Amino acid sequence: MAKFLALTSFGLRDILEEEIKELGLKIVDREATGIFFESNWEGAYRANLCLRTATKILLPVLDFPAYKPEDLYHNIQKHDFTKYIRPEQTLSIDAHVRESALQDQRFVAMKIKDAIVDQFRDKCDGVRPDVNRETPDLDVVVRLSRNTVSVAINTTGPTLSMRGYRKSSVEAPMREHLAAGLLRMTGWDGTTPLMDPMCGSGTFLIEAALIGLNIAPGTLRKKFAFQGFKGFQKEAWEKVLEDVMEKEYPSMPTKLYGLDINSTALAAAKANADRAGVDDYIEFKRGPVVTLEPPPVDRPGIVIVNPPYGERLGITEELKDVYRDLAHSLKVGFKGWKLFLLSGNQELTGALKLKAERRHRVYNGNLDCRFLEYHIR
Ligand SMILES: C[S@@+](CC[C@H](N)C(=O)[O-])C[C@H]1O[C@@H](n2cnc3c(N)ncnc32)[C@H](O)[C@@H]1O
Repeated sequence: MAKFLALTSFGLRDILEEEIKELGLKIVDREATGIFFESNWEGAYRANLCLRTATKILLPVLDFPAYKPEDLYHNIQKHDFTKYIRPEQTLSIDAHVRESALQDQRFVAMKIKDAIVDQFRDKCDGVRPDVNRETPDLDVVVRLSRNTVSVAINTTGPTLSMRGYRKSSVEAPMREHLAAGLLRMTGWDGTTPLMDPMCGSGTFLIEAALIGLNIAPGTLRKKFAFQGFKGFQKEAWEKVLEDVMEKEYPSMPTKLYGLDINSTALAAAKANADRAGVDDYIEFKRGPVVTLEPPPVDRPGIVIVNPPYGERLGITEELKDVYRDLAHSLKVGFKGWKLFLLSGNQELTGALKLKAERRHRVYNGNLDCRFLEYHIR
């Protein structure tokens, strides 16, 4: 058994905790943007494969105080890093430093790299891993905060939010793990209609389709870092993969609907949905929100949307009209539906002239946002 740390973004921690519990993994601690769980490697494989709202699964290996360079070098020797990769594989140190006596991030990274490389030289007849910052086999994550160093092994590789389906993108796309987390917050269970009337590259719709079909997001991915580790248990991994894929549903009882004014965004969304293998479940249409009509369904569903905020995409005054148009179309055609809107601009959401039933604080990248729930009456 080992203690792993699943990371996410601010505002999604509690949703991630629910997901980890559902996998049957034992939660042992939590921090602002992460959940610690105790598990064997098989559980870590499962977490990497299935968690929709996690960004990385780390294996914390060392914690120690550091005030001088020698503290870094000396303490790193307390863990054997040669057990993860062979000396001909590659290495990277991802260091972040704040409020500490040792202030220079690059220097900290270099000292730790030297200490790890020396372990290999000593144990592997002078052969050592090269540094590869882009696609390392072993990514060592180092956080130095208030003179305490935490060192962890990144079992994931590049962030889990990069599912692999989004090659075509648009301006201000939403990260996939955030879209999945927000969908989960709505309580949507895959059986009622769902619409995104400003769908951009289609992230909400594609993530919804994956949820509705019970497809684990990691099955779309080519590789996880743990697959390149020396101790990789191939059979256990294949069993986890088989078990998870067996649980996929053959189809979904509802369709998903996307609208966007921008044809380039729609083309990207369609290509992304196709790559994710869920295009059969999504109907895309081009047009402005003022033309938005409910889909031909016999019961109300949810509208989930991430409209432009103004900071990144345009001017607030012009955008107010877009928000007014959205509210108007919903009031006319969507009685009984619920609207969930990710807002990065209070002034714009005020233009909706709707009263939020609930609000939840989340970060979209580094923008402090509110996820708002409205009932259309
Ligand atoms: C912040 S982006 C949405 C990003 C999307 N969630 C994604 O993951 O790619 C906002 C989208 O609203 C669309 N949009 C702006 N004004 C619109 C309008 N009047 N009607 C419909 N779509 C509009 C833009 O084309 C853009 O794709």
